[in-house]
Amino acid sequence: MSIISDNNDFKSAKSLHSGHKNPVIKPETLEADKNFENSIRPKSFDAYIGQTALKETLKITIEAAKKREQPLDHLLFYGPPGLGKTTLAGVIAEQMGVDIRITSAPALERPRDIIGILMSLKGGEILFIDEIHRLNKIAEEILYPAMEDFFLDMTTGKSQTVKTLRVPLPKFTLIGATTKAGELSGPLRDRFGIIHRLEFYTEDELAQVIKRTAGILNIEITEEGAHAIARRSRGTPRIANRLIKRVSDFALVKHDGKITEGVANESLDILKIDTFGLDTTDRSLLRLIIEKYDGGPVGVETIAAAIGEDVRTIEDVCEPYLLQAGLLQRTPRGRKVSPAAYRHLGIVDRDINDQKSLF
Ligand SMILES: Nc1ncnc2c1ncn2[C@@H]1O[C@H](COP(=O)(O)OP(=O)(O)OP(=O)(O)O)[C@@H](O)[C@H]1O
Ligand SMILES: [Mg+2]
Repeated sequence: MSIISDNNDFKSAKSLHSGHKNPVIKPETLEADKNFENSIRPKSFDAYIGQTALKETLKITIEAAKKREQPLDHLLFYGPPGLGKTTLAGVIAEQMGVDIRITSAPALERPRDIIGILMSLKGGEILFIDEIHRLNKIAEEILYPAMEDFFLDMTTGKSQTVKTLRVPLPKFTLIGATTKAGELSGPLRDRFGIIHRLEFYTEDELAQVIKRTAGILNIEITEEGAHAIARRSRGTPRIANRLIKRVSDFALVKHDGKITEGVANESLDILKIDTFGLDTTDRSLLRLIIEKYDGGPVGVETIAAAIGEDVRTIEDVCEPYLLQAGLLQRTPRGRKVSPAAYRHLGIVDRDINDQKSLF
């Protein structure tokens, strides 16, 4: 299997999205990490940890497609950054024994970009489009007949003499990935046979990811050390992998190189990543809602302006984990913090105290 990447505009598209103040726990890819990420990316279902239900379903789908000697149905993966969407696409290609072409929606701006890629596909190949919610209307319309009937509708000639030409394409599988399934157009979403959400990872699963990466990088780590890092990785393998490198540097410089629970905690404290994996941005977001808005609800635009972040970073990067961790709630009138957030930040909830004083 080979991986061919057409990601010219990939960098700029992703960096638009940046903003987390502490890059160590930013769930998006950092430029500097690209090679590192590729070197530790699992290539098989066995090495791909967690997402068990999804993996089982996919294995069956792949077996069936192989038996029928047909390409896989088009697949859509969605979920927060760093949970393994791109990695999973690679695993599927490996399992199917086919090549994968990797691109992203912002790199498909002109019709000829998408037409060029579709025409260059070989039978059975996988086309992976990242950030697929950002495809423009024209590209989407080119994709519809390609996905449904493996045809490209091309128009030739001018005004009265215009002709539509149906150009056949080899049967291929489109794998789309997005962090924002809600922004995908209905007609595009409907053309995917299989749609799956990737879930945040448990502490145990992240500890496995960490031990696997430590093995590849020849880093010595104890079980407790792996769990200490896992707890602060925001349910996200990309962050777990980044933290292990930082903790390993710290272990080497300040200790004997081995990552124990104590070394991990000490080093993560210095990085200002707390026991929930929250960084200063997350904490200032929660603090703001508590201290200035009485716990909420408050609109996301107001939060963004007050803490100097952009709305997208808050919605795509901070919030998914805060919601999952039960620290934040989304309501129709805005964001509210939960009692757990007060406890985590060590702030006494005035409402709870007021209620107590009534009795
Ligand atoms: N299930 C897994 N088991 C082991 N490692 C994983 C797993 N999922 C992801 N990783 C690691 O985490 C890193 C990030 O994964 P990946 O690039 O696939 O995330 P993504 O969901 O595509 O993120 P984005 O939305 O930013 O594109 C990879 O380098 C990979 O090594
Ligand atoms: Mg990806």
